Amino acid sequence: MEKIVIKGNKPLHGSIEVSGMKNAAVAIVFGTILAEGKCTLGNIPLISDISDAFDILTSVGAVIKRIDKTTYEIDTTRIKPCSAPYDLVKKMRASYYILGAELGRFGRARAAYPGGCDIGLRPIDQHIKGFRALGADVDATNPGGYVNITTEDGKLYGDSVYLDIVSVGATINIMLAACKAEGTTVIDNAAREPHVVDLANFLNSCGADISGAGTEMIKIRGVSKLHGVHYDIIPDMIEAGTYMVAAAATKGELTVTNVIPRHLETVTAKLLEMGAEVEEYDDSVRVRGENTEIKGTYVKTAPYPGFPTDMNPQMGALMAIAGGQSMIREGVWDNRFKYVDELIRMGADIKSDSKSATFTGVKTLHGAPVSACDLRAGAALIIAGLSATGKTEIDNIYHIQRGYENIVGKLKNVGADIELKYVPDEAASLNNVG
Ligand code: EPU
Repeated sequence: MEKIVIKGNKPLHGSIEVSGMKNAAVAIVFGTILAEGKCTLGNIPLISDISDAFDILTSVGAVIKRIDKTTYEIDTTRIKPCSAPYDLVKKMRASYYILGAELGRFGRARAAYPGGCDIGLRPIDQHIKGFRALGADVDATNPGGYVNITTEDGKLYGDSVYLDIVSVGATINIMLAACKAEGTTVIDNAAREPHVVDLANFLNSCGADISGAGTEMIKIRGVSKLHGVHYDIIPDMIEAGTYMVAAAATKGELTVTNVIPRHLETVTAKLLEMGAEVEEYDDSVRVRGENTEIKGTYVKTAPYPGFPTDMNPQMGALMAIAGGQSMIREGVWDNRFKYVDELIRMGADIKSDSKSATFTGVKTLHGAPVSACDLRAGAALIIAGLSATGKTEIDNIYHIQRGYENIVGKLKNVGADIELKYVPDEAASLNNVG
């Protein structure tokens, strides 16, 4: 088992380069199923969600070649639909994009219910509603937790779908399914996240006809065939936001490069409100937390362009040490405050229920052994550990490795005292006794 060990209370200084966006990359990697040929994807983040997605694609017949550190060629010519193994699919949430992509290309799909972070109920009723609107027959009641999707004549037919709830996953899955449907599909109340737009741009460059991505109404006119392309994934706004908050929390100064500043506007606005200095450049932002008093604020998370739920825990780590009172109201997930108990172990003063948390800032946190209960909670604990006095040891770091490329190396380069430490698994060593 690996842990992250941090000796904190050191300001971060320097420059950090952001990798490709996890949530765009996972959608686009599965989207290559629709392109009958080879796609070359650049700016791929080196994270375990991507290696899991590659394993799933390879298991159903794709051939994946590494071109360079962040560029991969994916050939999906010989994909066999309905063959994704349960053990691989259950590892990651975004594996459900195989349903939309296979359905779009073959008119049928089958996969297990997906896994992912435990941040609340994660139903897929809106995905199913969309597939059914396009004429598919969806059986989600199979023993063993499989979703089985078929069509009468192997074809889907465009129609209108109103999403009852703004869902990134459902918007993406319906877009994937509808690319080759006969006629036009309209998704109303669609998610507007930058990763939805990035997937639409990728699919359009493969020959799809999608308009309106980035607004609440997306129109997909079906085309008969999609072809392979070269496509570069956009930078990860949540990774960027995480480092921006880390600069403020450690009273340091960081330039975060390879970003699209427009995607960071809500994080920038809140950091400015809290007293940090933020300067935006063409493709970088500079955040200064030194010589300023960070003060409390109020955040309500909401679908894009609202404040991202995936920045809730990281903001919580900053609010724990901001002057006065702060509050976060969670507007997307039911269970996003599990990190609060870990911050309290580090000396934070926080009251929370499932929907909100109130922070009374303390002067400083102190290091403690803590556990990453999900991906963004793990990022928050790293920020807390970097700002705290003493030593913080974080376990369950596989959650963090799902979504942050080389976070330990990147932070070390800007002055953090942070290490990956291998610790023998206690249960395994007990098993070896006598
Ligand atoms: N929902 C439904 N029914 C559905 C789908 C969603 O009720 O059929 C509800 C969910 O329970 C949730 C809300 O709608 O309350 C939003 O869920 P959404 O479908 O938008 O989330 P997702 O697609 O499963 C993606 C990201 C998450 C991010 C959310 C919200 C990926 C792979 N995951 O999840 O990212 O929190 O959108 O922005 O894109 C992360 O990166 O740490 C992460 C959890």
